[in-house]
Amino acid sequence: MQTDFLVIGSGIAGLTYALKTAKHHPDKKILVITKTQADETNTKYAQGGIAGVMDESKDSYDKHREDTEIAGDGLCNKHIVEIVVKEGPERIKEIIEYGAEFDKDEKGEYSLGREGGHSEYRILHHKDVTGKEMERALLHEVGQTKNITLINHCFVIDIITQHHLGFLVTKSTPDITCYGVYVLNLNTNQIEKILSKITLLATGGNGQAYRTTTNPRIATGDGIAMVYRAKGRIENMEFIQFHPTALYEPGESPSFLITEAVRGDGGILRNKNGEAFMEKYDERKDLAPRDIVARAIDNEMKKAGTEHVYLDCRHISKESFIHHFPNIYEKCLSIGIDVTKHMIPVSPAAHYSCGGIKTDEWGRTSIKNLYACGECASTGLHGANRLASNSLLEAMVFGHRCYLDSADKVNEINVEINIPDWNAKGTSDPKEMILITQSVKELQQVMSDYVGIVRTDVRLHRAMKRLDLLFTETEELYRSTRVSPQLCELRNIITVGYLIVKGAEFRKESRGLHFNTDHPGKSQLLQNIIL
Ligand code: FAD
Ligand code: SIN
Repeated sequence: MQTDFLVIGSGIAGLTYALKTAKHHPDKKILVITKTQADETNTKYAQGGIAGVMDESKDSYDKHREDTEIAGDGLCNKHIVEIVVKEGPERIKEIIEYGAEFDKDEKGEYSLGREGGHSEYRILHHKDVTGKEMERALLHEVGQTKNITLINHCFVIDIITQHHLGFLVTKSTPDITCYGVYVLNLNTNQIEKILSKITLLATGGNGQAYRTTTNPRIATGDGIAMVYRAKGRIENMEFIQFHPTALYEPGESPSFLITEAVRGDGGILRNKNGEAFMEKYDERKDLAPRDIVARAIDNEMKKAGTEHVYLDCRHISKESFIHHFPNIYEKCLSIGIDVTKHMIPVSPAAHYSCGGIKTDEWGRTSIKNLYACGECASTGLHGANRLASNSLLEAMVFGHRCYLDSADKVNEINVEINIPDWNAKGTSDPKEMILITQSVKELQQVMSDYVGIVRTDVRLHRAMKRLDLLFTETEELYRSTRVSPQLCELRNIITVGYLIVKGAEFRKESRGLHFNTDHPGKSQLLQNIIL
């Protein structure tokens, strides 16, 4: 297969890029591939909403910029923050034009929510299912756009570079170039190569590296691992954001999220004695940035020896709760919790990767003709901790910027046709899937036990030793076994785990989401860790 533009991922980042590019180039082909169903994305599960200054008489770009930078704890790239905050509202208007609906009040004005770290009400939402509505609108628009082809169940294994032409490629090779990808097409069960002039990675996050996560099964950090294998640059992987309030429901995976907007509407965190504890930790109480709230909950749980704390919404009127959070209300009721009478048991869960594939202000990666945007990318917006509801915004702003930069470049690129077919010689069908499933569980356990909200040098060292063993065993398996999505995903989350631990080991300080009790202070040196 050959195409001008190849988009990997059908979440908000990939679809924004595909639509823009398709409309700009009605004569060119845009191929979007996705590893399961088109709408099975982190995007679909977004609850709280999308942050944006829609009315400058009530809010300001400066305040949104300031909130983003305070959350980012010194590591945000100010230029990128400025870009996202200022260009964001235009992108929001565009998705509204595609048909996405955001809630309005009786006066017909957008009903804005508030979440941790925001100094103003500035979050547009669609009830508590904002991502579902945005994904719906984008996929609908894609369906109307003739020059976009969307293929489901097409698993990308690796990006193709000079390495596949037989050249030695190292981190210092100049002009490493992307020629396309090898995919396991699950519709034909064949490994195929897709050659492309421009490739965009929009592969989302990596929450599945942890035992407890809000991320769906697809979030295995595939794009990040592929770029690392291709010797591209990855940055700031140690900054994994734990959402403070996932519903505590042992055995359920992924964890159901209780959006931070519930605290924005007055929800209060309480410990097992019913004490509202956030005032002990931060003057912004329950609406402090996520890193602070998650650590506070972790501390309360450890002190009391419990596996969760509570979110108390009993004082919020039933009508108002159901109006804003119908999905949460129903979910809680389905497990016997009437939020108007009972407190909701909650605990932190891995939620968002602030680091990722290093990109510049146009979404260009360190590999030629390869772009990245959305959660898999590290643009510099989030620094050491992402401000709530800035992720959907960043994905749209950078989907647009990648389009602007790549749209005309495509005319200067020839497709490289001398790429060999995939070589599966010496491999056979896996004899025991348990070798893969058990390793996934081990990896998730190691990451949760040793590389969670609170870290120490010894825990990180121990994690690295365990990962080393898992890596060696999995590479052996990979060499001898016919590839499957499960095996590739295992390889990818081991790589992501390694990158998180490596980043955490390099960062000899506590900043934002990275908290190491052996290095409790902040270093004077503001640095991004690039691997
Ligand atoms: P995704 O939407 O995750 O899409 C990734 C795509 O890549 C999928 O189509 C997947 O199939 C594809 N893919 C991955 N690997 C491969 C492969 N190997 N081969 C082929 N295809 C592949 N952010 C906010 O701003 N506001 C919120 O309210 C909010 N709430 C959230 C609630 C939850 C429960 C979760 C999990 C996240 C939330 N976030 C929120 C974060 C936000 O949803 C994500 O960061 C964002 O949607 C990521 O979009 P994306 O396009 O980068 O990736
Ligand atoms: C939430 O709704 O609490 C999640 C928002 C986000 O991750 O930005």
